[in-house]
Amino acid sequence: MPSPAATQQIIGEAPAFLAMLEHVSRAAPLSKPVLVIGERGTGKELVASRLHYLSDRWEQVVVKVNCAALTESILESELFGHDAGAFTGAIKTHIGHFERADGGTLILDELASISLRMQEKILRTIEYGEIQRVGGSETLQVDVRIVGSSNADLQALAADGRFRADLLDRLAFDVITIPPLRERIEDIMPLAHAFAINMASELKWSYFPGFSSRASSALLRNQWPGNVRELKNTIERTIYRSPNPEKPISDLAIDPFDSPFRLAQVETVSPQTAVSPLSPLLPTDLQQRLNDTETDLLRAALEKARFNQRMAADLLGLSYHQFRGKLRKYEIRGKA
Ligand SMILES: Nc1ncnc2c1ncn2[C@@H]1O[C@H](COP(=O)(O)OP(=O)(O)O)[C@@H](O)[C@H]1O
Ligand SMILES: [Mg+2]
Repeated sequence: MPSPAATQQIIGEAPAFLAMLEHVSRAAPLSKPVLVIGERGTGKELVASRLHYLSDRWEQVVVKVNCAALTESILESELFGHDAGAFTGAIKTHIGHFERADGGTLILDELASISLRMQEKILRTIEYGEIQRVGGSETLQVDVRIVGSSNADLQALAADGRFRADLLDRLAFDVITIPPLRERIEDIMPLAHAFAINMASELKWSYFPGFSSRASSALLRNQWPGNVRELKNTIERTIYRSPNPEKPISDLAIDPFDSPFRLAQVETVSPQTAVSPLSPLLPTDLQQRLNDTETDLLRAALEKARFNQRMAADLLGLSYHQFRGKLRKYEIRGKA
């Protein structure tokens, strides 16, 4: 019986996202290590699980370790296990994740935070397929497929000596990079609807009234530095705060800290380094400058929306008809 992670729906239809999923399907059947790289909240854990469930190890164990949450000695015990009496407090033998995941997959989540000494132990395990429990003398054979995930630039860390280049070479047999949400805006509304419907049903609403065009436009225009996780939180917060479950959602609760009593922001830019606004080049032809800016923005929106004109209009906060009118006015081609 597959666990919920196996069946969790992955939503996305943007070309860059579909290409990434295709890459996952091709890499999944191999037993070689794979790295999943992406900004925070892009779905690295979903993709790492998918690599397991699309492999022929899918009926075997998949173990996930959050490397960032554990101190070095705990991570060592967790990964490699320990024998009774290995250290004070080691009363019983502890079976580590490498042993538990034998025949299956071990997901090393947030692996950039692993210490250099543990990196070396992991490297040896990958090279020889062998482990020793902490305090143990026996060498055990394990067959584990490793999937690592990180939101850090591992190559830069390796160049700095903070990540072992030889381990990186081993882990990076293939690298799957998840595009950030702002680079796949086609996925924003399908994700937002799915999260909204789940939340509405959790709140026992009889139906989900949808998003107003103002809300859709704001969803599309936001940069989402926290990616899908931030979008999910925003939608759930917006829905549960919504005053009237029958009216389409029009105000988004993007920033949970937003409040009239919000504490003052710490000044990070000193007056000397603050950039003064560029003084405009004068004299100028104001109308010509505005027209040029408008044309540039219309073209940029079309490109970003891959020529979906409704989406391009939303990106500019215009109605579809206003947008079409401007394309005609400036004689801009609306198609690729
Ligand atoms: N394509 C997607 N479809 C559905 N839910 C997604 C998708 N991508 C991410 N999520 C959800 O967003 C949240 C963050 O995903 P997660 O895999 O934990 O991100 P990361 O590990 O990259 O920080 C989770 O709740 C996850 O279920
Ligand atoms: Mg994660």
